[in-house]
Amino acid sequence: MKILYFTSTGNSLYVAKEIGGELLSIPQLEKSQTYEIKDEVIGIVFPCYMVGVPRPVEEYLKKAKIQADYVFTIMTYGKLAMSGTKQMEKLLKSINVTPNYSNEIIMVDNYLPGFKIEDQLNLVPQKNIEGQLEIIVKDIKTRKQNLLKKGIGSNTMSAMLSSFSHSSRGIRMLNGSDKGFTVTDQCTSCGICKEVCPAANIEIKGKPEFKHKCENCLGCINNCPTQAIQLKSQKSEKRFRNPNIKVSEIMVANSQKAAGANNEL
Ligand SMILES: Cc1cc2nc3c(=O)[nH]c(=O)nc-3n(C[C@H](O)[C@H](O)[C@H](O)COP(=O)(O)O)c2cc1C
Repeated sequence: MKILYFTSTGNSLYVAKEIGGELLSIPQLEKSQTYEIKDEVIGIVFPCYMVGVPRPVEEYLKKAKIQADYVFTIMTYGKLAMSGTKQMEKLLKSINVTPNYSNEIIMVDNYLPGFKIEDQLNLVPQKNIEGQLEIIVKDIKTRKQNLLKKGIGSNTMSAMLSSFSHSSRGIRMLNGSDKGFTVTDQCTSCGICKEVCPAANIEIKGKPEFKHKCENCLGCINNCPTQAIQLKSQKSEKRFRNPNIKVSEIMVANSQKAAGANNEL
């Protein structure tokens, strides 16, 4: 079993690890231009972005050739999933892949402009993440055939937002999200922000500089060890990373440093 995953704060990586198999980071597959993926079972685990599929995941899958007997997709989300899994289903159909199973799992919402992380953490017990995960793991083990279905309202909302995010205005807004980021004197120039960025959007010139090709994953902000990167629209100072995932795992998953490059950040 191979699992393709995308993550900025570890929720999706945690889910992928719990399901098991060989884990393949989508930004690394893209970096190495590895598009042919073949196995008996292939899964895709990704976070919900704007009730849909994150752009790096979408851009990669459009180029991918996926061959498997059983394909599943799991979307992690924080508050409102709408029909993100349906968007993924459509995307896979466009590359001639029909998923066998799709599901979603509610976890901590890492979207700092929307929520205070402290409030999000208080909701963890009632979200029953482990219970949801147990069902998903069992479903996949037993090769359950079932695609998550949502109402027409959800489908329309997800499709509308997806079409906006594909418009030139949507892409410009996304890429310029980093215009709302500022860096305080707490910055130690450690370069972790650059390594966790899946878009190669950060240069360290003393402090990080953002190059306006942001995917707005907020990985740089959530994973900064000194909380030096601030977001104008953030609801609080608190940051999030899934407690089961180390920052080094997110760096390995997302780093766009060229293979063989020296270790300077
Ligand atoms: C740009 C962005 C958009 C998001 N949009 C949604 C959303 O529409 N609905 C939702 O429930 N959660 C949304 N989230 C929250 C994430 O989907 C959720 O926290 C996810 O589990 C994060 O996964 P990760 O830790 O693997 O990156 C969004 C997060 C980001 C950064």
